[in-house]
Amino acid sequence: MENTAERKKIVFSGVQPSGQITIGNYLGALRNWVPLQKEYNCIFCVVDLHSITVRQVPAELRRRTRELLAMYLACGLDDENNIFFVQSHVPAHAELAWVLNCYTMFGELSRMTQFKDKSAAHSDNVNAGLFTYPVLMAADILLYQTDLVPVGQDQKQHLEITRDIASRFNGIYGDVFRMPEPYIPQVGQKIASLTEPEKKMSKSDTSGGSVSMFDDRDTIIRKIKRAVTDSGSEVRYAEGKHGINNLMTIYSCFTGRNFAEIEKEFEGLGYGAFKEAVGLAVADAVGKIQEKYNAYLADKDFLDGLMKQGAERAALLANRTLSKVYKKVGFYRP
Ligand code: TRP
Repeated sequence: MENTAERKKIVFSGVQPSGQITIGNYLGALRNWVPLQKEYNCIFCVVDLHSITVRQVPAELRRRTRELLAMYLACGLDDENNIFFVQSHVPAHAELAWVLNCYTMFGELSRMTQFKDKSAAHSDNVNAGLFTYPVLMAADILLYQTDLVPVGQDQKQHLEITRDIASRFNGIYGDVFRMPEPYIPQVGQKIASLTEPEKKMSKSDTSGGSVSMFDDRDTIIRKIKRAVTDSGSEVRYAEGKHGINNLMTIYSCFTGRNFAEIEKEFEGLGYGAFKEAVGLAVADAVGKIQEKYNAYLADKDFLDGLMKQGAERAALLANRTLSKVYKKVGFYRP
């Protein structure tokens, strides 16, 4: 075993290159990864294998893969000290997922709420990959002996099943996998839809409920102006006022002000003025990120090189765990 006092903890996370990433993904995921990179060894993945559990347009999936990597960097993740790679470039993910499939129970996968939601949303394509999605996610995490997994609230159940699979495997074969912990940030963990504030803001929503990280300034301001709010008029955070609470959370995340400060700032001003301020704050912040994003995206050689080098480094780590697993389960090696 390595000396645990010396070993820097490992963080692994990923986003699917499906749909346009939203300010919800930014506030709930990408932005919270930035402070982690100083303290931990971070591995950031573009999880394209997961994306095809829902039908994708091939040319779009290909394009979005590189765009997402450029967006990771634009959001402040440093290309020198972290590993960035694309999941399908490291075969160990699919390989370990197969093995773990044989250590995961049909019953436990049936209980996953995301499977239930997604199979209802895509009832014409309830494929086996959608069902075993959490097993591939477990493989992602366990391959790197990950300590911390920064995820949104909606992924907590997938992390729990990852731990269940790991302890089942370790129970049979000894200590093969490190037990990962979820890392769920306090603020911004869940940004809701602007039009249906009881639901999560989603990449696949095209009805104006989501602000994409690629929206232009006017679109952002207009979408926020049209956000659903309740019948009140005072800017106050309160139980059940989902629309206003959501806008306050967004504003707080982009300005650094807390709820008490926001309430004071908009005292007596009403929802209209508040929404205008939120729109401007979001448009400014997203605009700055887009400038950096465009510069990264224009440099294809750099991005391609980064993902190639990242895949090599990731494969080295992943294959160590995979070899151990193959040996434990009894696969013959000449
Ligand atoms: N399922 C995650 C999501 O949709 C994405 C993901 C795949 C992931 N593999 C992962 C997140 C491993 C963290 C760690 O958000």
